[in-house]
Amino acid sequence: MTKYYIMAAKFGSKIGMIAATVGSAVGLGNIWRFPAETQANGGAAFLLVYIGCVLLLGIPVMLVEFSIGREGGTDAIGNYRRISPKSKWWLLGGMGIAASYMILTFYIVVAGWTLEYFVSALSGDLFTGIADGSSSFEGKMKDYVSSDWKPIIFTAIMIAANVAVLMMGVRKGIEKISNIMMPLLFLILVIFCVVALSLPGASDGLNFFLNPDFSKVNGSVVIDAMGQAFFSLSLGMGVLSTYAAYFPRDTRLGRTAATVSFLDMVVAFMMGLIIFPAVTSFGMQGESLEGATLVFVTLPEVFTRMPGTQLWAILFFMLLLLAALTSTISMSEVAIRFFQDRLKMSRRKAVLIVMLPLLLFGAINSLSSGLLADFKIFGLTIFDLLDTVATNIMLPLGALAMCLYAGWFAPKGLLARQLSNDARSQGVATRAVIFIIRWVSPIAIAAILIAQFK
Ligand code: TRP
Repeated sequence: MTKYYIMAAKFGSKIGMIAATVGSAVGLGNIWRFPAETQANGGAAFLLVYIGCVLLLGIPVMLVEFSIGREGGTDAIGNYRRISPKSKWWLLGGMGIAASYMILTFYIVVAGWTLEYFVSALSGDLFTGIADGSSSFEGKMKDYVSSDWKPIIFTAIMIAANVAVLMMGVRKGIEKISNIMMPLLFLILVIFCVVALSLPGASDGLNFFLNPDFSKVNGSVVIDAMGQAFFSLSLGMGVLSTYAAYFPRDTRLGRTAATVSFLDMVVAFMMGLIIFPAVTSFGMQGESLEGATLVFVTLPEVFTRMPGTQLWAILFFMLLLLAALTSTISMSEVAIRFFQDRLKMSRRKAVLIVMLPLLLFGAINSLSSGLLADFKIFGLTIFDLLDTVATNIMLPLGALAMCLYAGWFAPKGLLARQLSNDARSQGVATRAVIFIIRWVSPIAIAAILIAQFK
């Protein structure tokens, strides 16, 4: 026990542990997925359903992942092999590793785009030709995102940045970088909030975002809210169980899950406070806030109408970059931990084995937004197909299976032990959470999943 405790990688401090976990959760999901989903699904009504999904499904599933990770203390597959040897539950861990890698292959491409935009905001290239009309943000986006080789190079740079951090290990790499980047990210967000809320006409945007129209709530809103909650909280595929293995023994899981979910919701909420007032203030509420268009066309347009255009663009793409980097790091770590612990590789070798093939997959995904944009499966590009399958099916399925495992099939007392930090008897709160994990979350997730295919 003692020997293993010393060998295993751990986060060095409580703050670092929270920063790293929040770093995984806060990502493009909050900054560009959330506003798009909110706009598409009726504003405030979606926000409320989303908050409900986080409380009722997100936090319980997060507690399940934390419990499995800290009990197992190793990689996504190894956790199940340790806790339930001779069972087939390790397959669930395998699915998680596959799913997180799948999401990583397109997420890293988007991360590359954000770097490309950051660089072009810095150099000023983003705004050349805009004022005299010889160029447009749509045109720029075509050039930056859909040209054949440029996005691949930026994707490769983002992969290299991940490699650099991951090679340093859990404490000196992941934890350290999160400790720097997360406070910076919050600072930038606060600045943008103040600016957006003081724009003339901001209140119309706030109305859309904060006054619920319940007639908009239907089945598909709930499905999207659930998918969004799992995606945004990094749930359902072993990312957080991998991180939980690095939690110090005395970490209180309930408090940690509440803090992480709260901060993740705050970031999404702040993005709403920024984007809806900004677009209405400039009369752009009709514009699509759909992911890429929002951040690469609509917002740059907003910046051009503000004094200090370039500064805002630099700050905003830096925000995106920070968010994307800490999230890709967490997704990569799942597979890396597997190669290190299961296959007994050195950290260095594990990082390379996971990240080098990503160059190839990233390049393919990148081309699917350019050269291969016309290659469709089920009417979707490779890129959108991966996103939809992973987010709306694999994450909820993974989450459902984890609840069933922890609530019903794992050795008795796993949840009680982990949630109460080995207390002899459990308080009401712990027992209520266990009840939710056994009954409420799985039934709700299953019902929403099934409704999807109706
Ligand atoms: N949560 C991150 C975001 O909102 C993305 C992410 C990181 C993720 N790790 C994950 C999504 C694991 C699903 C599963 O951008």
